[in-house]
Amino acid sequence: MEDKKKYFRIGFVGAGTHANNMLYPSLTFLDDFEVERVAVCDLSEEKARKVASNFGVAHVYTNHQEMFAKEKLDGVVVCINAKGHPPVVRDALQADLDVFCEKPTSITVEESEELAELSRKTGRFVMVDHQKRRATAYQKALEIVKSPSFGKVTMVEAKMHGHIYDNLFNCMMEWQIHNIDIVRAFAGDVKEIVARMCRLADNRASIAILLTFENGAVATLNWGSEAGGKGRFCERIEVVGSNDEAVIVENVRHVIHYKEDESKEWAPNWVPILKNQTTVIDGYVGNLREFMNCVLERRQPVPNIEDEVRALRVIYAIAEQLGIPAEWTITIGDR
Ligand SMILES: NC(=O)c1ccc[n+]([C@@H]2O[C@H](COP(=O)([O-])OP(=O)(O)OC[C@H]3O[C@@H](n4cnc5c(N)ncnc54)[C@H](O)[C@@H]3O)[C@@H](O)[C@H]2O)c1
Repeated sequence: MEDKKKYFRIGFVGAGTHANNMLYPSLTFLDDFEVERVAVCDLSEEKARKVASNFGVAHVYTNHQEMFAKEKLDGVVVCINAKGHPPVVRDALQADLDVFCEKPTSITVEESEELAELSRKTGRFVMVDHQKRRATAYQKALEIVKSPSFGKVTMVEAKMHGHIYDNLFNCMMEWQIHNIDIVRAFAGDVKEIVARMCRLADNRASIAILLTFENGAVATLNWGSEAGGKGRFCERIEVVGSNDEAVIVENVRHVIHYKEDESKEWAPNWVPILKNQTTVIDGYVGNLREFMNCVLERRQPVPNIEDEVRALRVIYAIAEQLGIPAEWTITIGDR
């Protein structure tokens, strides 16, 4: 007999590019849930109406507070930008709602610390959409690393090249923050940071970072605005354990597990069937499923606003060491 589906009433704030490309389509793949798309809010009524018609959302708003007051929701997805997230997430928590918020949750560390405090006070969750943690390849790697035979993580080597933004601070906040989050998923909390860079222009540089972790592990991160970029060979992580094992993830797809006598390679099957869609492989579906399960089971989701505070602290420390001003100039929406 088929298991009964879990029921979830969801609301959305933000009907822009990322929500349309990734988040709303991801709901289709949550086949263990019946998700009622209750309401969508955007400052642009036209955008909100378009989402409502494309993704079957019942009600349209241009004011999130009105939506929170009028609709019965189990949780809300907030997908605006670092500047717009704090006031909306604050209002959601105060309206007794659990929140799934896009990264970065704020421009400053202090704003996210305030949201973390409010989350603790209200008992409502703020999950942050660092989707890599639930990408199929990283899930496989995390399963290997967390298994007892792997031992303790001693070393991580991480690379994240890619897009060129207006300035290096925007690039770190929008793009390389994902790298910090996934490295933290493998090695835990960061204790010390040493950063150096080879600068090419205001918005172009190669950056090398040395991290030590609370558990004694060490990591090197290499971030570039050059070298392939645009997804060609932009991302690679290698994690080494204390029992002579290592796992490598190439470009969020290909996993190699080195272990004496039983090394294995693994990659998702690229046949274009539903479960291989980018929404699934890159982790957006998994993150939304985790959010809904955590809300229903009253279990703290990961990564959450406390994780984001720690990731933002690392970004700010790196920027400060490199003399990169914390200037947020981003206008999202044209990607
Ligand atoms: N996790 C990922 O991989 C990933 C990828 C891309 C973007 N993002 C993040 O998603 C967020 C959105 O990015 P985007 O490219 O979709 O931006 P966007 O500008 O296309 O969309 C933002 C939308 O929010 C609306 N908005 C702004 N303020 C609002 C308010 N107070 N109430 C209601 N609506 C409001 C805007 O009108 C716009 O439609 C950013 O934080 C970005 O970093 C995450």
